[in-house]
Amino acid sequence: MTSYKLLLLPGDGIGPEVMAEVEKVIGALDALGLARFEIERDLVGGSAIDAHGKPLTDEALARADAADAILLGAVGGPKWADVAYEIRPEAGLLRLRKDLGLFANLRPAICYPALADGSALKRELVEGLDIMIVRELTGGVYFGEPKEITTLPDGSKRAVDTQVYTTAEIERIAHVAFDLARKRSGRVASAEKHNVMKSGVLWKEVVTKVHADYSDVTLEHVLADNCAMQLVRRPKQYDVLVTDNLFGDVLSDVAAMLTGSLGMLPSASLGAVDAKGSRKALYEPVHGSAPDIAGKGYANPIAMIGSLAMCLRYSFGLGEAADLLDSAVTRTLASGARTRDIAAEGTTPISTSEMGDAIIRELKHAA
Ligand code: NAD
Ligand code: IPM
Ligand code: MN
Repeated sequence: MTSYKLLLLPGDGIGPEVMAEVEKVIGALDALGLARFEIERDLVGGSAIDAHGKPLTDEALARADAADAILLGAVGGPKWADVAYEIRPEAGLLRLRKDLGLFANLRPAICYPALADGSALKRELVEGLDIMIVRELTGGVYFGEPKEITTLPDGSKRAVDTQVYTTAEIERIAHVAFDLARKRSGRVASAEKHNVMKSGVLWKEVVTKVHADYSDVTLEHVLADNCAMQLVRRPKQYDVLVTDNLFGDVLSDVAAMLTGSLGMLPSASLGAVDAKGSRKALYEPVHGSAPDIAGKGYANPIAMIGSLAMCLRYSFGLGEAADLLDSAVTRTLASGARTRDIAAEGTTPISTSEMGDAIIRELKHAA
């Protein structure tokens, strides 16, 4: 069986806790003969600052570049609140995304049947929910220059962030969204703010042009603020939702809560397909390092395990193993297993590692 080179970057806070569960799942996939990996590990974020004085070393970046795929836990936390802005934990993750060219961030928000009552919204609004947020990940206000705080003559300060998009950046993310829609329900909604932002004007124009190649897909334009409202009013109206880096960050956290918890949402960050047909890819949960629950065994590992399932599917073409893992998660939830974030009031939740064990039991049972 082919052995894939997988780099694990657990990071900070609950990152290492949820990554430990993924390592157990990787062991189980190997034992079942479903997938085989050559595992490497390195540091990112605060843990790399502690060890090396920076959130991502050149060696770790080179290792990421050489890997077939990367799994990342989460970065950041109050411990590093006072480090210089340029070397804050999040800068390590942003460098990985930018330097590896991971421009397409897929964030699926799926409401599992067993959790339909766990959402912040009424059951009928979220039951069967299956949205794919396609977030542009290497452009926009995250990376635009200038990005600075300067001091004015009167001693007060001026802060600048710059939102920049080019035609090429919008075209390639639009293609990702339309191609995905073809394999789903054939509907794309594109969210921007062309009423206020020049980048929104260009975004809408370019997405409309790219749509001309996809007559089988319907396209709707929506202002990003209205989109946020629609996501909590009637979320199932959306299938593929394509948007820029910052709006995508915010809208995916909104979508997460529709599924019951931020601890449920996986993601894939993909680069361009090269001449050999392969692409750089990093898989990570949508959630952060959750300092409020770190070290307590409360973290939900499903977003991280779901990120491994996306890795199997998108990087290695192991659709069958990915389906088995996804259905093991579905059945585990159906059996009533709940970490604290998705447990109903008055019920006793299980720990991070008990949830990992329960999913592995279901996986072994089905394989
Ligand atoms: P967060 O996502 O870490 O946590 C938000 C809330 O969701 C918290 O109450 C947390 O306990 C809960 N939560 C998150 N993941 C959970 C899980 N798997 N199981 C159960 N509950 C979970 O966001 P935050 O608190 O705003 O940020 C904390 C730090 O994480 C910051 O430094 C931020 O920059 C960083 N962050 C990193 C990433 C990443 O590495 N990709 C993503 C988001 C935030
Ligand atoms: C995410 C996170 C990151 C982002 C941070 C940690 C840089 O919030 O992946 O959603 O803003 O992209
Ligand atoms: Mn975020």
